[in-house]
Amino acid sequence: MTNTPNLERIRSVFERSGVALSLADAEAPDCPLVLANPKFEDLTGYRLRECEGRNCRFLQEPDAAGNEPAKAEIRAAIASRGECQVILRNQRKDGTPFSNLLFLHPVGAQGRYILGSQFEIDEAAADTVTEGARRHAGVLMADLERIGAVSARLQMQGRRHLADAAAAMVMAWSRRM
Ligand SMILES: Cc1cc2nc3c(=O)[nH]c(=O)nc-3n(C[C@H](O)[C@H](O)[C@H](O)COP(=O)(O)O)c2cc1C
Repeated sequence: MTNTPNLERIRSVFERSGVALSLADAEAPDCPLVLANPKFEDLTGYRLRECEGRNCRFLQEPDAAGNEPAKAEIRAAIASRGECQVILRNQRKDGTPFSNLLFLHPVGAQGRYILGSQFEIDEAAADTVTEGARRHAGVLMADLERIGAVSARLQMQGRRHLADAAAAMVMAWSRRM
């Protein structure tokens, strides 16, 4: 994987990124958030100081039973320090719901940190949302490369693969609506 994560480097990539990014400490109890960037704050309505130290599940709608399969996938990915992409029902600080395509990637030696990136699947913009997911995945891959956190598997499969996988997920999801 990668060397010891450098939080300062991660912070500077976070500040400049064009996509929502969050970072959790997988070695601390209940995997709390340690960083979130301005795009994350814009998307969720929460400032970093409000979510620091909390598990990111606070974004989930309280009764969203539909989130269960995605949550099981996340738990398995975190336990194996693997990566995953899932779609969750979330809500912003003001209570407005949104669908969140969440990308999770381990960062650093032994995957001490997990980087999350949130992409809002805007149902009102169905015709452009697949392309948006593709672009988001491209930006995320570039950010992961800057941090030095691209897993060997992702490196082999390349940017196109992550973008295709994200677009396919969004397409399958929108067909279910
Ligand atoms: C870095 C990171 C970012 C996350 N971002 C979100 C998010 O935006 N929305 C969400 O519903 N869950 C998010 N999660 C997932 C939850 O924190 C949690 O792992 C998930 O709900 C499964 O665990 P649980 O069943 O114990 O709640 C994120 C997890 C990590 C590690």
